[in-house]
Amino acid sequence: MLHFIAIALLRQINKLVKIPFPKLISGENATTQVASQLDEMKVNTVFIVTDVLLIKLGIVEKLTNELTKANIHYHIFDQVTSDPTTGVIHLACTFYRKNTCDGIIAIGGGSVMDCAKALAASITKNTDIKNLKGLFKIRKQVPTFIAIPTTAGTGSEATLVAVITDKNKKQKFTVIDPVLVPDIAIIDPTLMIGLPSSITAETGIDALTHAIESYSGLHSTDLTKAYSSDAVKRIFQYLPIAYKDGNNLQARTEMSMASFNAGIAFTRTSIGYVHAISHQLGGFYHIPHGLANAVILPHVMEFSFNNAISSYAELAYIAGIADTKDTQLSAAKKLVEQVKTLNNQLNIQSNFAELKAEHIPMLAKRAIKEAYCSYPVPKQMTTSQCEAILLKLLA
Ligand SMILES: [Fe+2]
Repeated sequence: MLHFIAIALLRQINKLVKIPFPKLISGENATTQVASQLDEMKVNTVFIVTDVLLIKLGIVEKLTNELTKANIHYHIFDQVTSDPTTGVIHLACTFYRKNTCDGIIAIGGGSVMDCAKALAASITKNTDIKNLKGLFKIRKQVPTFIAIPTTAGTGSEATLVAVITDKNKKQKFTVIDPVLVPDIAIIDPTLMIGLPSSITAETGIDALTHAIESYSGLHSTDLTKAYSSDAVKRIFQYLPIAYKDGNNLQARTEMSMASFNAGIAFTRTSIGYVHAISHQLGGFYHIPHGLANAVILPHVMEFSFNNAISSYAELAYIAGIADTKDTQLSAAKKLVEQVKTLNNQLNIQSNFAELKAEHIPMLAKRAIKEAYCSYPVPKQMTTSQCEAILLKLLA
């Protein structure tokens, strides 16, 4: 009962809180527009958040070349690790304070975005990121913030959330505030050319999970459904192509827009049990987020099935997986089957070697706690039902 009251309350808060849209600049070589945007926003010195690999691959250079041409000063922080910890955020804050910057550019995947958002939050409130855990703890303008994603999946360039790992607890936590939505999202599919196929697959399924959890969740609206269903359609059509041929610019473009659109949707509706379970596997075993989602998604869809038939069927019709000959039930079943087929096409594994049976009760308890009163899921899951799903994932 408490859960339903909390979800209803969150729905009201969702209606009252205005979540901004980032200004979207997209297309081939959109990165070349960064300098003019910074100029427009009167930013003189930017703090670039990225990781070592993106420096090595020369992707950051594409950005810094533009800044140099326009005489914009910059400092680079490249120490972001996957699943950034509170320690990494602390390091970024120290480095930021040493340099006088008036803007932040995050160029990278989900971990880079999370780190940059946490940095923005932490320096704005002048406190450790741990103190900003939860909802609406910032409520103050953060520095000008531009997000340039180099993967198509997280959708973080459109969202109000940062996910941080507490290394001591081996657990993830979120910082959620509308001020964390980037001012500008620069979506340049050329930056994604050359992304390894496994990362393309895993991040792509992360976006699919955002879209499906958003669409079938109790907080979805006509607006979010338009964005999430668009994402589902593009992902089924173009993710297998981007996976097979990483140089296919059209597939990269479609996937980058699918990721952005799914981000726009789920940041307004929240997520569901796939993420609740996946966060535990990421926090405890460091299993990559997209991979964890991909493996868990079909199981949670089957669990929620009876309460999500109409949503799944609508998505199947929109994505062209089902047609007018299908009943609602057969269309919904086709969506679940299509997710499994997609996982097979992408060579996604079906279990986790890292998962230990003795950890399952603790992981299930944490997952249910994360979702309880927060995630507007179509069907409630008990701890023992969650344990049953995790048992299926043992290698
Ligand atoms: Fe995700």
